[in-house]
Amino acid sequence: MVKKSAKNTSKETELSGKPVSDLTEAEAAHELERLATEIAHNDVLYYREDHPEISDADYDSLRQRNDAIEARFPKLVRNDSPSKRIGATPSEAFGKVVHAVPMLSLGNVFDDEGVRDFVDRIRRFLGLDGDTPLDFTTEPKIDGLSIGLRYEGGRLVQAATRGDGYVGENVTANVLTIKDVPQEVKARDFPDVFEVRGEIYMSHSAFAGLNAEQEKAGGKIFANPRNAAAGSLRQLDPSVTASRPLQFFAYAWGEVASLPADTQWGVYEAFARWGFPLNPLATLTSSLDKMLGIYREIEEGRAGLDYDIDGVVYKLDRLDLQERLGFVSRSPRWAIAHKFPAQKAMTILRDIDIQVGRTGALTPVAKLEPVTVGGVVVQNATLHNEDEIVRKDVRIGDTVIVQRAGDVIPQILGPVLDKRPKSAKPFVFPTVCPACGSHAVREINPKTGKEDAVRRCTGGLICPAQRVERLKHFVSRNAFDIEGLGEKNIQSFYDEGLIQSPPDIFTLAARDADADEKLSKREGWGETSAQKLFDAIAARRDVKLDRFIFALGIRHVGEITGRLLARSYGTIDNFLKAMTDAAKDREGEAFKELENIDGIGPAAAAAIADFFAEPHNVQVVHDLLEEVSPQPLEAVDKGSPVSGKTVVFTGTLEHMTRAEAKAQAERLGAKVAGSVSKKTDYVVAGPGAGSKLKNATELGVDVLTEEEWLTLIG
Ligand code: IVH
Repeated sequence: MVKKSAKNTSKETELSGKPVSDLTEAEAAHELERLATEIAHNDVLYYREDHPEISDADYDSLRQRNDAIEARFPKLVRNDSPSKRIGATPSEAFGKVVHAVPMLSLGNVFDDEGVRDFVDRIRRFLGLDGDTPLDFTTEPKIDGLSIGLRYEGGRLVQAATRGDGYVGENVTANVLTIKDVPQEVKARDFPDVFEVRGEIYMSHSAFAGLNAEQEKAGGKIFANPRNAAAGSLRQLDPSVTASRPLQFFAYAWGEVASLPADTQWGVYEAFARWGFPLNPLATLTSSLDKMLGIYREIEEGRAGLDYDIDGVVYKLDRLDLQERLGFVSRSPRWAIAHKFPAQKAMTILRDIDIQVGRTGALTPVAKLEPVTVGGVVVQNATLHNEDEIVRKDVRIGDTVIVQRAGDVIPQILGPVLDKRPKSAKPFVFPTVCPACGSHAVREINPKTGKEDAVRRCTGGLICPAQRVERLKHFVSRNAFDIEGLGEKNIQSFYDEGLIQSPPDIFTLAARDADADEKLSKREGWGETSAQKLFDAIAARRDVKLDRFIFALGIRHVGEITGRLLARSYGTIDNFLKAMTDAAKDREGEAFKELENIDGIGPAAAAAIADFFAEPHNVQVVHDLLEEVSPQPLEAVDKGSPVSGKTVVFTGTLEHMTRAEAKAQAERLGAKVAGSVSKKTDYVVAGPGAGSKLKNATELGVDVLTEEEWLTLIG
């Protein structure tokens, strides 16, 4: 291997030849340092200077060795690890773009039943019977990268990747080189501001051609067309993108001054008129059977297409109905992706590891001989729980079938029995926690009286695995979202004793200022990166209340419940007071109020009260509040007359379904409760209202008819 830059001592040369399985921890750390420097050096030669000095195979083996060492010593993963970078273009290289309208994703279904449920759900939500015709667009789900193209005055002014859905990367210069994307739209009916969204992809033939050229030039070989498209789009030098054959299909829109039609299909027709490429297989259908028929046709034709697709997307055609349906969490209620069946492969089960999660759950993870499943190398797969291992009778040493479905974690379907070696032994599931040695037990579910499938560590806050997992959850994207404090850094700060519990995160900068051994002097860190981290932490001191609640990692309290609680209690002081009261008395007002929040089930209410009944947890929350000041959520619609009010719907509604009424009220900033109390502001009663109406009258709560409610909200 040609190495022009790295100076090798004889010790390093010796190390670089040593099998990964024989490395000591100290040697592994040394090797990772060498590999990071060497790979970064070769990346610059390849990507920026277009002048690689080593063959692609040699480059790949450097990366493979780096990955293998990291897999064996996860604690040693460096901040500047090559495995953390996509290609050679760190995302900081591109400017950030805040999407005016978030770029959200689609829910998935995997069978006909799922599509039927999707259509039924829409009908139920809108209160339509089975006979009311509903049209859907039916089109392939393109396996590329989504992009938003913003036009102002007919000119393409900005192109942004999806990123996390809210903030993407500015790749305008690169997108301007793609022939499929109009730089200018001259049509007279093209609105002044219009963001066209769609997918950038690379065709199979272009991909093969690109890889052939890369091979001749000794360049990087891409694993699949999607990677090739992503790598080509995220180039620092637009002339490299220009030389890569990228294509585009339009299928959605973001911020628009106006829309050219009142149906999805109508907008597609306008797209075509304006010069945007539409997928030729897109159609407009009018029944579930036709949708499923087209799914089958597309699936049958899949192998003959010159680009990758991974399913079919159905979208409700009428835009007014789309608007009424809105979004749930991050996906629209009016569209869904019907994914093609999972891809499978055979490989050997080398071992079973037990991972301890944030809530103490012991999860068996299959360690596999690496195998490619649908274009992705899989080496870990979930085995769910101990009953699953017994039920499937998977043994270490077995040949097993692995399945990957979309972005779901790979799963083990079962062993191939006639390949079972004599030495294969059944796995004995541990009854103590591998992280802290506490007993691991299977709880009895109070409702069913049955043993829980999951074995949990009883070590609670003394268990390092739980503590560190709680910390990872605390800083994760939907919680505190601290940039630069990802899982790897949390793990190493935890291991070094720098961060043991969430409040420590916020005292890190002050402690560092007094410390002899500064963060900026540590391996993998510098002045800039340390300062950036401190800034990112400081920026989260006024975190939003819903994120704060979600970050606490209370069982059964996900993002949505976090938001409900934040909306219901308004401020952190109210929330804490109510939760401490609820924890003290499960029969009291505070607990009843908590249980009464529409969307909070008994399990969540009990888990929240349990959490606040534990003095350790309350202490952590108090310590944390010395450092951060959670901010109330803005009302969804501050100007609305029902913003901040509590509403109960009862009886039959005539203009919309209960679900739609609830979603609409919440959009307007109201809280929807399940039963009437002193805190209820309005009861909207339709025909057939019973005890809730009676309660409302007794408590002197305002009772409105559905019409009066509609007038009130305008
Ligand atoms: S519609 C509000 N249509 O799939 C959702 N998405 O999981 C708008 N995709 O991020 C998306 N083909 O990158 C839509 N025909 C299609 C698509 C498509 C591929 C991708 C897109 C999106 C992801 C959703």
